[in-house]
Amino acid sequence: MTESWSVDLADQLGIDGVTAVATLRAGLGGNELWRLSRPDGDLVVRAFPLGAPPYLAEREQQAHAFAADHGIDVPAVHSCQVLDGRSYLVMDHVPGERLADALWRGDDPDDLGRRSGATLAALHRITDPAPALIARRSWLDWPAAMPGLRPLLEPYDAGHVTLHLDFHPENLIVSSEGRIVVLDWANCVVGPPAADLARAGAILELILVAVPELTEIGRRAAERYRDGFLDGYREAGGDPSIPDPVRAWAYAGQRRDLAGSWVPPWYLDRLDQQCRELVDAQNIP
Ligand SMILES: Nc1ncnc2c1ncn2[C@@H]1O[C@H](COP(=O)(O)OP(=O)(O)OP(=O)(O)O)[C@@H](O)[C@H]1O
Ligand SMILES: [Mg+2]
Repeated sequence: MTESWSVDLADQLGIDGVTAVATLRAGLGGNELWRLSRPDGDLVVRAFPLGAPPYLAEREQQAHAFAADHGIDVPAVHSCQVLDGRSYLVMDHVPGERLADALWRGDDPDDLGRRSGATLAALHRITDPAPALIARRSWLDWPAAMPGLRPLLEPYDAGHVTLHLDFHPENLIVSSEGRIVVLDWANCVVGPPAADLARAGAILELILVAVPELTEIGRRAAERYRDGFLDGYREAGGDPSIPDPVRAWAYAGQRRDLAGSWVPPWYLDRLDQQCRELVDAQNIP
């Protein structure tokens, strides 16, 4: 499916020499992605939904630059542009494979987990202020403000760093040189590191409980990846503890984020229940 791609669009984006176009499988964000084959090196174009805020590509460009400046591997961004109200990010295609595919194929889950955890810890170690378009976005508003939880979260709304907030095996590439490259900075916000860890843990839990085709071998790999992730995070100097209210926030946010998606209704109920139990355990009248 390359319906929205056109030679005109390539011209407008200033891309030449394209010899082939392939659509990449996108997630739930409603983006379209294309891989453009070129003799000078393949590119990926990420097109945000028409009608979405025009600064989305620029925000991701800022996130990529920030991460790259601090030694985190990300695809190099060539440009961000707004054309006819739609924003586009043009970046290098990273040769390699999705970490999820490496995991399901049987690559060492402990090692992949450790190195992923160490990468997230490296992001959380950065003390420089977040770039402008990210700094104005708080974890407390992801994916929407949740006023009911807010009083419980206030004590943890401290020690802000830049968070990825979608750090999972489909957003990581194991490059052909074996490096872990971080994609998809769409959710980037500022907040406490525990929020990023809680969110990463909640996504791995989703894979473990709700992915219908997960085999027993896949489940074991995902569990070992999760354990390795926390070990790698700790070994790289991160604090792997997650306060219960922050865990509740991650479940509640995931509940909102995934409503209307492929996940089964029982899984959404499970998130509600997990959130409620953690909140009730706080014994706040
Ligand atoms: N620069 C890149 N190099 C190699 N592969 C890429 C690159 N960008 C995206 N991909 C591939 O495309 C897939 C989707 O990309 P990405 O996660 O950035 O978009 P998305 O899924 O639309 O985002 P969202 O989850 O917010 O909807 C990735 O899993 C990866 O396989
Ligand atoms: Mg994605």
